[in-house]
Amino acid sequence: MQEILSFPKNAQKEAPVLEEIYNRKSLRAYSTMPLAKETIQSLFEAARWAPSSSNEQPWVYIYATADQTELYQKIANTLVEANHVWAKRAPLLVMAMIRTTFVRNGKPNVSAKYDLGAANAFLSLQATKLGLNVHQMGGFEKEKAIANLNIPNTHEPVVVLAIGYPDSPEILSDNLKERELAPRERYTQEAFVMNQAFSV
Ligand SMILES: Cc1cc2nc3c(=O)[nH]c(=O)nc-3n(C[C@H](O)[C@H](O)[C@H](O)COP(=O)(O)O)c2cc1C
Repeated sequence: MQEILSFPKNAQKEAPVLEEIYNRKSLRAYSTMPLAKETIQSLFEAARWAPSSSNEQPWVYIYATADQTELYQKIANTLVEANHVWAKRAPLLVMAMIRTTFVRNGKPNVSAKYDLGAANAFLSLQATKLGLNVHQMGGFEKEKAIANLNIPNTHEPVVVLAIGYPDSPEILSDNLKERELAPRERYTQEAFVMNQAFSV
């Protein structure tokens, strides 16, 4: 397996997929053009219809548009500098969280992050369909997020999403521009799909 994982990665399609799956990309060059309210609602609607363990729907989002300066900054200033430098142009920032326990019995929900990932994937594909870019970021300070947004201990912040229409890579610094234009990197299916048990 290790050998296969060290194969050169490439982004050639090995089979047909939905256009939105192939076109979705974590870009860094954002236009500052604001998003319509209905567009924002469509994104969260896509998240709403994601599957989840026991239909718990443990995802919780706090969003801020760039014109909501105070709330926007409360999310933006949790980002590590390497993310803040480009994400601060995005017209929409979202703090994506989970409820850590089940509503019906208070027990820990070990699937909550898995389910949030599914919701974020649905949101990202809807965004792609609408011509928007979503860039998820684990690079933010959790403690700062909890303090800035008064997040209760029943919830855990997991990832920040920068969302907006793409702009030209020319607006980026040289090193970010290079990353923006770099070829996609993906393992081949052979590296992660098996039709047999692991060999002993
Ligand atoms: C949970 C998660 C955390 C991520 N954190 C960051 C981050 O902090 N900064 C960043 O630039 N990209 C981040 N990314 C984006 C990934 O680097 C990106 O999805 C990956 O390189 C594949 O590129 P693509 O999304 O354009 O296909 C994150 C993605 C996920 C799903």
